[in-house]
Amino acid sequence: MSPTPPDRAAPGPRLLAVSDLHVGMADNWPLVEQLRPGHDEDWLIVAGDVGELTADIEKALRLLADRFAKVIWSPGNHELWTPREDSVQLKGVERYRHLVARCAKLGVVTPEDPWPVWTGPGGPLAVAPLFTLYDYTFRVPSAATAEESLRLAHESGVVCTDEFLLHPDPYPGRAEWCRALVAAAEERLRAHDPAVPLVLVNHWPLVRRPTDVLMYPEFAQWCGTVLTADWHTRFNVAAAVYGHLHIPRTTWYEGVRFEEVSIGYPREWRRRGHPRGLLRTIAPFDGTEPAATAG
Ligand SMILES: [Fe+2]
Ligand SMILES: [Fe+2]
Repeated sequence: MSPTPPDRAAPGPRLLAVSDLHVGMADNWPLVEQLRPGHDEDWLIVAGDVGELTADIEKALRLLADRFAKVIWSPGNHELWTPREDSVQLKGVERYRHLVARCAKLGVVTPEDPWPVWTGPGGPLAVAPLFTLYDYTFRVPSAATAEESLRLAHESGVVCTDEFLLHPDPYPGRAEWCRALVAAAEERLRAHDPAVPLVLVNHWPLVRRPTDVLMYPEFAQWCGTVLTADWHTRFNVAAAVYGHLHIPRTTWYEGVRFEEVSIGYPREWRRRGHPRGLLRTIAPFDGTEPAATAG
């Protein structure tokens, strides 16, 4: 008798993850509608970039919250934009707080909540949705300063839309907001019981190495901060889940599994398909650890 593939068997509940649903793109809605649990007790991590308009974000999260036993959300940069056409014109921290309040109504876990503990297969795992933003420290290698790196990006025409739509209010800049967010998240991580392994969820990768394969290296400066570089080794981390890069894959750094779980834009998934499926299984982990750390 040939063995049944683990995904087909789905004998028990799973901790699943996805990101970058980008529901503002009409062709992504049918994909979101396909996101269904395989078991009544499945949890779903949504690692940011659900969409831009508050009504769209809420509609997608409500759909998922109705289907999955628990939904855990970390904000992406797109949720934090203030598009002119949105009925909600709040900026920066106020916009984030508004989204957190909407999530509370839907029963969706946010970075402001206690971290739920997955006790299903592969558990216990504390699922920690984080929100850390970026501070321009993933700068262009030839640039001596963040300012120079940003100037080079403008010269090459690779500028993230965040520069125009992601307002840092009341902080003077996104880097200052990032530093405050990192300090707060780090304090919670230090207070966490090290006996319970963590699944860290953050829209932006916690380490820079995943950005080494970006088509436009200038874009890295909008992808994270060096301040989180050692979190996966300093704390008891079973896996780190992220998105933002639209490069779905699994890599290992210092023996810790990093899962990029994005769906991405239609022009991207039409080209590459969904090589890892729409939903990634975080627990139970049914793969094998590599003999060496991947780059
Ligand atoms: Fe995205
Ligand atoms: Fe993003």
